[in-house]
Amino acid sequence: MKTARQLAAALASFAAVGTVAVAALTVPARPVTAEAPASDLTQVKALYSEKCSACHNLPKPEEKGYTQKEWSRTVTRMMTKYHASESITPPQAAQIVTYLATFVPKTEARRPGGKSSDPWATDSLDVWREVPSTTRVFNFASASPLAAFSPLGSGTPGPAPSWLVSLDKAGANGMAAHVSAPAFRPDRFALLVDRADTGRNLDVRVRFRIESGKVSPAVGLAFGLADPDHYTVLRCNQSLGDLALIQIAGATHTTLQQTPLILPTADAAPNAAPTPLTPGWHTLRVLVKDGQVRGWLDMQKRVNTTLPTYTGGKVALWTQGSTAASFHDWIVDWYDAPQTAPLS
Ligand code: HEC
Repeated sequence: MKTARQLAAALASFAAVGTVAVAALTVPARPVTAEAPASDLTQVKALYSEKCSACHNLPKPEEKGYTQKEWSRTVTRMMTKYHASESITPPQAAQIVTYLATFVPKTEARRPGGKSSDPWATDSLDVWREVPSTTRVFNFASASPLAAFSPLGSGTPGPAPSWLVSLDKAGANGMAAHVSAPAFRPDRFALLVDRADTGRNLDVRVRFRIESGKVSPAVGLAFGLADPDHYTVLRCNQSLGDLALIQIAGATHTTLQQTPLILPTADAAPNAAPTPLTPGWHTLRVLVKDGQVRGWLDMQKRVNTTLPTYTGGKVALWTQGSTAASFHDWIVDWYDAPQTAPLS
């Protein structure tokens, strides 16, 4: 088992700690850029409420369903045409756009397959009835936001995975983080660890898209990460057709809970082959509170169990073997204040 010191050394060996650059307003007339630490999101939300309700009711971004570009255009119109710039500075406007762009655009929610894939549709406050102590949002809006992360390999020894941020092929989502590890064996995992924060109680969600993978294409959300070989992961495996909560402790992998990716219909043959996820974007969400774990796939609560030995740790995006996958809108709420209300 790796010690905390070894992990610290592993993490420190990556590029200097950075914050995630936030989106630039992409309007030629008044290009505005700003950088804000992702953990300021709670403040940005407050800024939004204060500044954007001065002339009209506060718009409901989840109802507008605008893309980042559309928000950028709208806010720029507020700034220039209606002189909102008298009360909102350009960096504040840029921060507000970044915040608004964390809501899933309608183009995405309307994708074939029906249901909204909005990971924010279930307001975390329904569960917590509290505001998070820290919110980190990674929408990979800038060209090089990976400075905030450590790309680590896990499992069988081998090379570090390579993650890259590039324009999402589907277009509507701006940038996304991609990982592709063609040389990886099925028992080697790629982790993109958020270096900055650690805690026990959290609500983390991400959108993902599996592009390809020769053996066991699988993606997941890792949490409670003590080091690259000790963590818990909620993962979707396309070949096995299952969603599973797995505890990784070195070579020992314990499946804590397992459920089909697609729930079989009542008339399905008992031995029918597992159904993989449809191509395109899906969502994963994990909520941990005092060792209780809930997991969602595409907004359906599918995992519900307890982790008796859970002590917290870092969070990471995760892929298995040679999987090529994209991730977008990775949001982590940390709730480290003492919790009293039970999970719903
Ligand atoms: C100085 C006044 C003023 C401020 C401050 C202001 N707005 Fe507006 N906003 C307007 C006016 C006037 C309209 C209606 C005309 C229009 O849509 O162009 C409007 C309309 C809107 C609309 C509806 C139209 C659409 O394009 O969807 C949205 C959304 C909006 N504002 C967002 C914002 C946001 C976000 C902020 C904060 C950054 C903001 N507004 C701040 C004056 C303001």
